[in-house]
Amino acid sequence: MAILLSTKLNAMEAWRDALLAEDPGLDIRMFPDAGDPADIEAAVVWTAHDLMELRRYPNLKLMVSMGAGVDHLTRPPGPPPGVPVARLKDARLTSGMAEFVLLNVMRFHRQDLEYRAQQAARIWNELPAPDTTKRRIGILGLGELGSAAARTLLPLGFPVMGWTRNPRQVEGVETFHGADGLDAMLRRTDILVCLLPLTPDTRGVVNARTLGLLPRGAFLINAARGGHVVDADLLAALDSGQVAGAALDVFEPEPLPTDHPYWGHPKVLVWPHAASITIPSSAAPQVVENLRRAREGRPLINLVDFTAGY
Ligand code: GLV
Repeated sequence: MAILLSTKLNAMEAWRDALLAEDPGLDIRMFPDAGDPADIEAAVVWTAHDLMELRRYPNLKLMVSMGAGVDHLTRPPGPPPGVPVARLKDARLTSGMAEFVLLNVMRFHRQDLEYRAQQAARIWNELPAPDTTKRRIGILGLGELGSAAARTLLPLGFPVMGWTRNPRQVEGVETFHGADGLDAMLRRTDILVCLLPLTPDTRGVVNARTLGLLPRGAFLINAARGGHVVDADLLAALDSGQVAGAALDVFEPEPLPTDHPYWGHPKVLVWPHAASITIPSSAAPQVVENLRRAREGRPLINLVDFTAGY
């Protein structure tokens, strides 16, 4: 029985080596060289893989998606019917995301956009000192990634708030939920961080109305999915000064088209979906564990909940 691997070629080789390091006995086939379709019992794939193609494997008993977000699986055609799907919950993926949030919070908090603009113009000018205890961070989504970002920011002295669909507690974080909770948090948020899963409910959550609730001059960090942000609304808010800066790692579509106004916008930091990248050696153990569980008919870990959409 074999595992089908499918992602970019260099990542595929790293995944193969990482899986073999966990279990040297694994038979790994790198897509498109799947061999006999009947051999494939697990598919470890990422967003570019055609989900219809997976229906060719009659003995598939596990599909693993090589990342945290699963919005590419929740829209049609979806995974092969009846095949359980796991995503990754990985400590390194999570800490990488917390680093990304910290980096951009600090850039905005420490007036880095202004200081870089001053440097470009050779201006020596000290701006008013920022007060960490007054820079309120509002995180949309307190799952694996959002709660890790909160835990990274709290010890530095930032007041951290978090919003979730259903009530949720994270130590030290002031939490909000539901539609009213969202508005209440936004009214007090100086740096808004989006780490939500993309679902029909969260699509377009960062829009003219919600951006308008933020205190004037707030910042946005989006490391979730491009579909969370209504781009025209964000650009208008940046141009009016309602939003003072945005760090964006994700876009719709990706790659961000070369003529998109974000590229050259002085208040926008563009990242090429690189906030946190899965490190195969860190993520491989959970994949091999799930494979063992699938073979033995034991409950799988990190399963995607298709009802919730994440
Ligand atoms: C990356 O975007 C991921 O979902 O892991």
